[in-house]
Amino acid sequence: MTLNRREMLFGAMAGILVPQPALPKSTRLTLRPAPVSVHWPGYADKLEGFLGFNGALPGPEIRVRQGEPLRVRLENGLQEGALIHWHGIRLPNRMDGVSILTQEVVPPGAYFDYDFTPPDAGTYWYHSHYLSYEQVGRGLFGPLIVEEREPPEVDHDITAMFADFRMTPDGQFDTNIGVTEDFARRGRLGDTMRVFLSQGTVRKGDRVRLRLINSAIDRVFPLDLNGINGSVFALDGMPLAQPTALEHLTMAPGQRVDVIGSVTSDISIFMGDDESLKQIGRIAMNGTNPTPGPELLQPLPGHGLPTPVSPSQSLKLLMRGGEGDPDHGGFGTWSFNSVSGLPMDPLGQFRRGDTAEITLSNPTAFDHGIHLHGHHFREVLGSATFGPWRDTLLVKTGEVRKIACVFDNPGRWLLHCHMLSHSADGMATWIKVS
Ligand code: C2O
Ligand code: CU
Repeated sequence: MTLNRREMLFGAMAGILVPQPALPKSTRLTLRPAPVSVHWPGYADKLEGFLGFNGALPGPEIRVRQGEPLRVRLENGLQEGALIHWHGIRLPNRMDGVSILTQEVVPPGAYFDYDFTPPDAGTYWYHSHYLSYEQVGRGLFGPLIVEEREPPEVDHDITAMFADFRMTPDGQFDTNIGVTEDFARRGRLGDTMRVFLSQGTVRKGDRVRLRLINSAIDRVFPLDLNGINGSVFALDGMPLAQPTALEHLTMAPGQRVDVIGSVTSDISIFMGDDESLKQIGRIAMNGTNPTPGPELLQPLPGHGLPTPVSPSQSLKLLMRGGEGDPDHGGFGTWSFNSVSGLPMDPLGQFRRGDTAEITLSNPTAFDHGIHLHGHHFREVLGSATFGPWRDTLLVKTGEVRKIACVFDNPGRWLLHCHMLSHSADGMATWIKVS
């Protein structure tokens, strides 16, 4: 079974807020994707061409407590198929929202019920997983926060979702999606950066938890935060054993970073490198906290994921394609191991609990953010030395990186580039765990 290319291709600033619905515990939340018009300061009154959940872009922030069930009905209000994927959640395979591998595409007007209990507290997100480079690119994404049973004490818990959009010269959303050059290079990069914040003001001395989520389809965000004196506490929803100093951040599409620290001035979010920094978001400082708490030093409680042991299999994932590398096997612009799109046979087959190593080689001229569904993995840094738990790893041009994963979640799991234009044009494979 191979998906043909046609089927794959076609089948901020302050003031832009993430809507915050009160989610009544244990009742079913409905998420309805449909066209929305959005209002952005500095643009025409109503911008058309976008999609949203429940009338909003991004979709509503979903919050559940660790160990509590999440029940969501996807009600398809689009003129095309729909699916929702819960990025980074270790959930039962049939809830993963992936066509071919885990469920049928939900047709227009139909619904599908997602029911699962997120096992790990942390910062996650949900997004369309059907024609995703287009549907996510038009706005079908939202934050999914799983709160610790005993959350760290903070004055504010703020979500910041990053995305970029391509606009036409007259300030409308550019609906010309599927430009060949985009697919063959870094993907569809927008000219308009947006940071969607769940809150716009803080006080001096407040302790703040910032949950950064890169929901752009293709753009890697190089980020610097000003005005917060803090540390990185988690990556991709997974707590770090020891928080690390907050420095320059590089966020590939799909990745998350949790920062906790205290406010020293307006929190400014800059994008870029040393030479050119551009402010793309801001949380204003307003007033002073009369009784600021001490610096938070304890790490967040760990999730107890099994440590990789010596691998029973070593797999290779060779990335090929894109501009300058047309001859790579496979019908698409991109390939994994010379195959474009989902192959009939999985990249690897495992018994539940097996550890595998996967060598990710990127000789292409572009960077790729490799994402594994249903599991987290660790980078192998040396003998018995591992990097932090992640679900998405940025593999830059010319790099070879090795990851280790304990495949303990049965099912058929997608492994793909989270530059969604690359995955739409070939960079996808899968893993079978039984
Ligand atoms: Cu964000 Cu296939 O995933
Ligand atoms: Cu890629």
